[in-house]
Amino acid sequence: MKILLFGKGGQVGWELQRSLAPLGELVALDTGSREMCGDFTDPDGLIRTIRAVAPDVIVNAAAHTAVDKAESEPELARAINALAPATLAQEAKRGGAWLIHYSTDYVFDGSGERPWREEDATAPLSVYGTTKLEGEQLIGQSGCRHLIFRTSWVYGARGGNFAKTMLKLAQERDTLKVIDDQIGAPTGADLLADVTAHAIRAARQRPELSGLYHLVASGETSWHGYARHVLEFARRAGTGLKVEPEAIEAVPTSAFPTPAKRPLNSRLDTGKFQQTFGLITPRWENGVTRMLSEILEN
Ligand SMILES: NC(=O)c1ccc[n+]([C@@H]2O[C@H](COP(=O)([O-])OP(=O)(O)OC[C@H]3O[C@@H](n4cnc5c(N)ncnc54)[C@H](OP(=O)(O)O)[C@@H]3O)[C@@H](O)[C@H]2O)c1
Repeated sequence: MKILLFGKGGQVGWELQRSLAPLGELVALDTGSREMCGDFTDPDGLIRTIRAVAPDVIVNAAAHTAVDKAESEPELARAINALAPATLAQEAKRGGAWLIHYSTDYVFDGSGERPWREEDATAPLSVYGTTKLEGEQLIGQSGCRHLIFRTSWVYGARGGNFAKTMLKLAQERDTLKVIDDQIGAPTGADLLADVTAHAIRAARQRPELSGLYHLVASGETSWHGYARHVLEFARRAGTGLKVEPEAIEAVPTSAFPTPAKRPLNSRLDTGKFQQTFGLITPRWENGVTRMLSEILEN
């Protein structure tokens, strides 16, 4: 199997380089790749790359993920999140390849408390959500075989992440305020990458699995609950904290105004994914605890 991965340096892309390698020959690119174009603002370059590689599977981990910045650069966000994925889809269709793509709970308006299902009505609140939704739709319309995984609250062990920020702030500051009215499931980039590799193998055997799936860790929490979990772990690990987990102040989203509106209900129902692929998504605490062990115990 020949796999062409775009966005290799991102949180999910980095983990995909590891998880996809055992499946076959992997060509991994990013914006700065010299030998072949991996730049999503260059559709002709993308077409040249795909035709030169002639992959069996195209995996797209690239995206304009700066949610607030996207509000002031909607054309760039649309080019990267919608138009480039459409180009990948057209080329996948032309070459008979699968396209694997990631989307987001930000396609929903965040109302209610029920976990969103794949068929629920979309109503994005932000440029990011709108462009990601258009990307999904253009892939669907292309007629290529595809797996689109909508996920949420993604963290990677590499680089910065929410947990590392909370650890730093709790060591430096006397008080810590964290939002408690947005609910979702922190989902590890490593989990997404591992599960993607399994799903590719299954889908290649069963083309009827082509479609849209919600994919997040199990369970739910708020950013406040997430921060508390992080600091409780840190305290057990003997990290000196100026803010104890119980002292984190819970505040509403309105306490931190941002250019982009975020959904309050980011819960995603993963039933379709789990039943279709026969895989279980572990609880969010498992992945976060493992990531914290790597940060604090090494
Ligand atoms: N992060 C989340 O919480 C979250 C939540 C829900 C869904 N998702 C989705 O999950 C997927 C992976 O997200 P992630 O968290 O891994 O994102 P990420 O860490 O921000 O990585 C995004 C990648 O896209 C690349 N990229 C940006 N502009 C590009 C361009 N013009 N051409 C080519 N590549 C470009 C970046 O490369 P450079 O660094 O070189 O620019 C980076 O490697 C995305 O589809 C995202 O929408 C993420």
